[in-house]
Amino acid sequence: MDTEERITASKLNDEEEGLELSLRPKRLTEYIGQKSVTENLKVFIEAAQMRKEPLDHVLFYGPPGLGKTTLAGIIANELDVDMRITSGPAIERAGDLAAILTNLNNNDVLFIDEIHRLNRSVEEILYSAMEDYALDIIIGKGPSARSIRLDLSKFTLIGATTRAGSLSAPLRDRFGVISKFEMYTVEELEKIIKRSADILNIEIDKDSMTEIARRSRGTPRVANRLLRRVRDFSQVKGSGMIEMNITEKTLRSLGIDKEGLEGLDRTILQVIIERFHGGPVGIDTISAAIGEERVTIEDVYEPYLIQAGFLHRTQKGRVVSNLAYKHLGLESPKEEQLSL
Ligand SMILES: Nc1ncnc2c1ncn2[C@@H]1O[C@H](COP(=O)(O)OP(=O)(O)OP(=O)(O)O)[C@@H](O)[C@H]1O
Ligand SMILES: [Mg+2]
Repeated sequence: MDTEERITASKLNDEEEGLELSLRPKRLTEYIGQKSVTENLKVFIEAAQMRKEPLDHVLFYGPPGLGKTTLAGIIANELDVDMRITSGPAIERAGDLAAILTNLNNNDVLFIDEIHRLNRSVEEILYSAMEDYALDIIIGKGPSARSIRLDLSKFTLIGATTRAGSLSAPLRDRFGVISKFEMYTVEELEKIIKRSADILNIEIDKDSMTEIARRSRGTPRVANRLLRRVRDFSQVKGSGMIEMNITEKTLRSLGIDKEGLEGLDRTILQVIIERFHGGPVGIDTISAAIGEERVTIEDVYEPYLIQAGFLHRTQKGRVVSNLAYKHLGLESPKEEQLSL
């Protein structure tokens, strides 16, 4: 499974990391979609600049590849400050975070990706840093230990997470702005594909852009990935210009169907239908049945299956919808009941 390239994969390879960098919008005006997030931020950024104060701490949450890291970078650019990037699992000890914090300049942005994975002792350091721009450090051990307070520059913390529910309440409460990222519409994804094609000098017809947009699971990262795969096919097997026949051939050979589902999405639905009568079935049982980690199913696959209406999350577990039966070409037991 690991060697197979998944179009939904949230981890990037080296080639992709460079490309993502070049495709990343740098300014708010270039950032497509997520209007409810960006319109508010625009106001907060302007207000902070007028007051010459740091922007309030911001938390972004939502499925992978929707543009959280990109928007954090844009905020730093718009504020005209530096951004320091790190991630929850990368900060192992409280001292690591203290070192990062003491190196920030006034109004700088500190971006912590996967912030729900910070360990407890590190997280506690953040509380006073976020609230009072200060670090409480304990020096010495035992009865002679004493605490000293170190002042920090005023900074903005931008945290990103795929799961807001995993954040502790004290940490979540310290963010002044909490924004949820939504999946993109087909029209928005078309614009993103057009923009990426222009940057990468790719010629592509309108129908192909629409088709790629439709099958990108509402996710810009997937759209950009598909665009590059279609380009590979058109270079080797076509004229170089991306047209519908090449686009369809590429998507077919990648195993991506009309609804943008790939192999594992269909496996998830199929397993629920064939082994658990369509559900409800618990996520851990599904995870064991298909041999895929629970977090991967929850963070990467499920959001789109739910958004597209193939899967429902209920108190008792996951249930597939009639739409899923139809999509897989299976007869839906619920539909039979309805028609009686
Ligand atoms: N609104 C947007 N407009 C244009 N391109 C976008 C937009 N959002 C994301 N992208 C593109 O999608 C890619 C992935 O976005 P990004 O890395 O910011 O996602 P993310 O939400 O941080 O994902 P993860 O949770 O995996 O870290 C970017 O490199 C960028 O090219
Ligand atoms: Mg990111």
